[in-house]
Amino acid sequence: MSTNQSLKPLTLQTNAGGNLQIGGCDMVELANKYNTPLYILDEYTIRSICNDYKTAFKAYPKVNMMYASKALCTQAVSAILADEGFGFDVVSAGEIYTVYKGGVDMSKVVFNGNNKSFEELNLAMQYGVGRISVDNFFELSLLNEVAKSHNKIADILLRITPGIECHTHEYIQTGHLDSKFGFDLTRIDEAVELILEQYRNLKLHGLHAHIGSQIFETTIYSDEIDILIKELARLDEKFGLKLDEINIGGGLGVKYTENDMPPSTYDIADKIITSLNKNIQKYGIEAPALFIEPGRSIISTAGVTLYTLGSSKQVPHGKKYHAVDGGMADNARPSMYQAEYSAQIANKPDAENSCEVTIAGRFCESGDILIKNIKLPEIEEGDILCVYNTGAYNYSMASNYNRVQKPAMILVNNGQDDLIIKRETLDDIISHDIIPQRLK
Ligand code: LLP
Repeated sequence: MSTNQSLKPLTLQTNAGGNLQIGGCDMVELANKYNTPLYILDEYTIRSICNDYKTAFKAYPKVNMMYASKALCTQAVSAILADEGFGFDVVSAGEIYTVYKGGVDMSKVVFNGNNKSFEELNLAMQYGVGRISVDNFFELSLLNEVAKSHNKIADILLRITPGIECHTHEYIQTGHLDSKFGFDLTRIDEAVELILEQYRNLKLHGLHAHIGSQIFETTIYSDEIDILIKELARLDEKFGLKLDEINIGGGLGVKYTENDMPPSTYDIADKIITSLNKNIQKYGIEAPALFIEPGRSIISTAGVTLYTLGSSKQVPHGKKYHAVDGGMADNARPSMYQAEYSAQIANKPDAENSCEVTIAGRFCESGDILIKNIKLPEIEEGDILCVYNTGAYNYSMASNYNRVQKPAMILVNNGQDDLIIKRETLDDIISHDIIPQRLK
C-alpha cells in the first residue's frame, strides 16, 4: 500500500483523552488554540508519500520528481518538498515567487500554463526557472522575445495534447483532443520548425503532457508514454532532433471515501517504467529523462480541515442539516466537482455513528453543502468536525466569498504544531479596498 491509498493521515489515532490526534497533536486542542476552520497538515504523511514515489521509481534512474504546487503552494510546503529532493511545477508568478521565497533551487522548476503573460515569462527568465513548457504558438514567439531581451536561451518543452480520455470529472480532464491545453499532435512539426529555424533564443529539450487528475486507471499512463516516445522517435527521424526529456504530468488519484480505490505509486511506477522500456527498445532511442508532476497524491492525504459544528435544521420528513463555520470558500470541491469527503467528530471519534446527516457550509448559497448524507454520532453544538483528505486543492482554491477570512494552516509533526499560514483578519479583508476621496 502507498500513502495515497490511505483515507486519513498516517499518524492519525485516538489519544488517551478520547480525541483525534494527528502528528502527535490533539485536534480538539488545536481547534481551541487556533480557532476554526483550521487546515492541518501532517508532515510525516507528506514525507511518506515522497518516499513511496522515490522508492517506486528507483528502477528508472533518470527520474525527476516534481511537485505540482497548484495543489497547495506555501513556502513551508515548498521547503519540505525541496528537502525531499523534489522539483516543482508552477503555473503563475505567484507560485514562482512562493517557491523562490521557500528556498527552492529554481533550476528544478518547470513553468506550465496555457496563457502565461509577458510579466510571468519575464519573471521566470529572471529567476532562472529550469524549464518552460510552452503551450501554444503565441507563447513560442512571446518567450523567444523575452529570452532575447534577457540575452538568454530559454530551455523549453512542448506541451502536447495526446488525445487520451481518462475517466475523471470533465473539468479535470486535460489530455483529450478537445482541450484548451497544448499543441495538437498534428501541429507539433510546425512548432519544431519554428524553434529550429526562427526562434534562436529557444532550446527544445523534450515533450510534456498531462492527461487529467484524480486518475484511477494505470493503463492510461502506458498509452501516454506510447505517444510521447513515438513522437520523440519521429522528431529524431524527421529533424535529427535528439530530445531527451519527457514530462508525463501528474494525476494519480487519492482516497476521499471508502469507495475510492486509487492505485498505488508502485503500480503506477511499474506501468510507466515497463512502458518506457518497451518503447525505448521498440524505437531504439536513448532512455529519456522522465519528469513526473504529482500534486494531489503528494499533499491531499496529509491534510484535514477542522470545523466547529453550529446550527442545525431538521427538514420535516426530510434531511437533518448540521452547519459548520466554513464551507465552499475553504473547500470549493464539493460544489464545483460534486466531490465527496469523509469525516469524523474529533472529540468523539469512537462514538457510534447513529445518525445520517448532511453537513452544510456557512456561505449564502444552497449549493454550499460540504458532505451529503454522512453517518456520524449524535452531534452537539460545539463538536469539532474533522474532514479528511483536504490537503490538495482546498486552500489553493480558497476564496473570500461573503468576505469571510481564509483559515490558518498548521503543520503538525511529533507533537509539535507550527503555524504555516496565518488566519486572515478583518483588516486583511479590507486591506485592498480604496474609498475614492469624493465619496468620503
Ligand atoms: N501537471 C499539470 C500540467 C497539471 O495541469 C496538473 C493539474 C498537475 C500536474 C497535477 O495533477 P494532480 O497530480 O494534482 O492530479 N482543482 C482540481 C484539480 C485540477 C488539476 C489541474 N492540473 C480539483 O480540485 O480536483
